[in-house]
Amino acid sequence: MKQENKKSVWWKKAVGYQIYPMSFQDSNGDGIGDIRGIINRIDYLANLGIDFIWLNPIYKSPQIDNGYDISDFRNIDPIFGTINDFQELISKLHKKNIKLIIDLVLNHSSDQHYWFQEALNSKDNPYHDYYIWQDGVANTKPNDWVNWSGASEWTYYPQIRQWNYHIFNKRMPDLNWENGKLRKDLLLTAKFWLDMGIDGFRLDAISHLKKMSFNISMKSMRESGQDPWAVHTNVPGLENFLKEIKYAFSGYNIFTVGEASGITPGQASLWTGENGYFNAIFELDQNRHDGYDSKKRPKGNIQAFKKVIFNWETRLNIFGWLSPYLANHDNPRSQQVWGDNRSDSSAKALSLILLSLKGTPFIYFGDELGIGSKNFTSIEQITDPEAQIAYQKTKQEKGNIAKAFTDIANFNRDQGRTPFWWNENKNAGFSDGIPWLGISDGSQGRSAESQIKDPNSILNFYKKMIQVRKSSPSLNQGLFYPLSLEQDSTVNFLRQTNSQLSLVISNLSDTTTQIELPTSIDLDNWLQVIATRPTRLQRKMSLGPYQAAIFMKRVNG
Ligand code: GLC
Ligand code: CA
Repeated sequence: MKQENKKSVWWKKAVGYQIYPMSFQDSNGDGIGDIRGIINRIDYLANLGIDFIWLNPIYKSPQIDNGYDISDFRNIDPIFGTINDFQELISKLHKKNIKLIIDLVLNHSSDQHYWFQEALNSKDNPYHDYYIWQDGVANTKPNDWVNWSGASEWTYYPQIRQWNYHIFNKRMPDLNWENGKLRKDLLLTAKFWLDMGIDGFRLDAISHLKKMSFNISMKSMRESGQDPWAVHTNVPGLENFLKEIKYAFSGYNIFTVGEASGITPGQASLWTGENGYFNAIFELDQNRHDGYDSKKRPKGNIQAFKKVIFNWETRLNIFGWLSPYLANHDNPRSQQVWGDNRSDSSAKALSLILLSLKGTPFIYFGDELGIGSKNFTSIEQITDPEAQIAYQKTKQEKGNIAKAFTDIANFNRDQGRTPFWWNENKNAGFSDGIPWLGISDGSQGRSAESQIKDPNSILNFYKKMIQVRKSSPSLNQGLFYPLSLEQDSTVNFLRQTNSQLSLVISNLSDTTTQIELPTSIDLDNWLQVIATRPTRLQRKMSLGPYQAAIFMKRVNG
């Protein structure tokens, strides 16, 4: 959206909702969610009360990484629809006062992109330098850099006798940000979508645009006690690229949120906020799930979650801005990681926490129904390329197929990407065809259609909680003060403005737990505004499994 007068900071009080388009709603029976499907569900979104949507990539793509491998930055992939459909989506969302932000992938393209195909023709081709190359011979990689899947970041192209650099999949070559023409071309494609009327971007993999010298090995980094990922994460000089991006967006009244892998809270206070490179960032620390056994399904890490969240919220209290979230398309569902798939109360308690945090929160589609992660029983059911690579690697190295599968089944990105539960019909109303990824278990009786009718449903709790947040200055603007600093599963904190104080208490475990409020909190005049079940406020109180509540009162600032 073009800027009219002064820029508003609409995003500060807004609640976001992430839609994974392949799994939201299929409109034509091919088993894949599409733009028309989203258009058909705008009433549902308006009714939920969210302010804006983040849509994962819908650009033209060979779909090696479900759309993050883009072969045309200015087109929509036919599986999702057409540019006309997309324009219709923007205008129909705007009519309902819902804004739309989309992924902007600046770090890499697909190997099928015209630029890369040209680059492969010869070293003299003008597009050759749009990518990152090292001369060499087959079998001798330029260095030992590997990515998170454990795969080398180099692929040899015999036709030009060069190694190509890619942080992610080999079908997703990194773009060469050192090349000014490339930067200009890329940022023009971003403007193309802004001029169409979108309201912002989620900047994918944005901390990787700059790389260290290829002479530096990961081994030497490790040996000198440095973080080996630092070779391609938040490398000094990155800030110049980020400033250029910020400048390109300066005429637009938009919201930008960066996927900030490896960024510390100290850096984020400069990266974000009204004067930052972006308005907000997603921290990725919470996804390390510290303290759990990676051989088991990730679960029961609420203590680690609390530590990460309290740290970020406190550090960004005055300077900087966070986008809190419970789950996204790269992680298992929040009900599995932080709650209990079988418990409605845990989904409610989690929403109460998420929507009480400081920042611009994002709800991951389906969390408002309590959709659980999927249990996969064979490797063929898993499409996530990272999971497939990791599976092949363990299989080759350890020779143990069963172990390779269990590791992957416990943690893969498809677990949280399963289709939405619309109704009680076949395929939960997601598609008349065969869904590209199986529906997760437990949909019966818990579809959106059923939950809308049930006043005590998770969905209706989310709706209420969204309204509570939006109507309470303390929750949508107040400062954050952590209370429960102990190593336990209670997450308690205060949010405060000059005129309002909120007290948030919760027990995010499946056993009854005692909490004790500090004597600095006076117990008079609190009003309970929302709770998973009626809760009486006392100095010492016992909270049942997944019990959570918010109390509010007026204060004189
Ligand atoms: C981000 C996305 C992830 C994708 C990767 C490469 O981490 O969230 O889904 O695979 O970038 O684009
Ligand atoms: Ca479809």
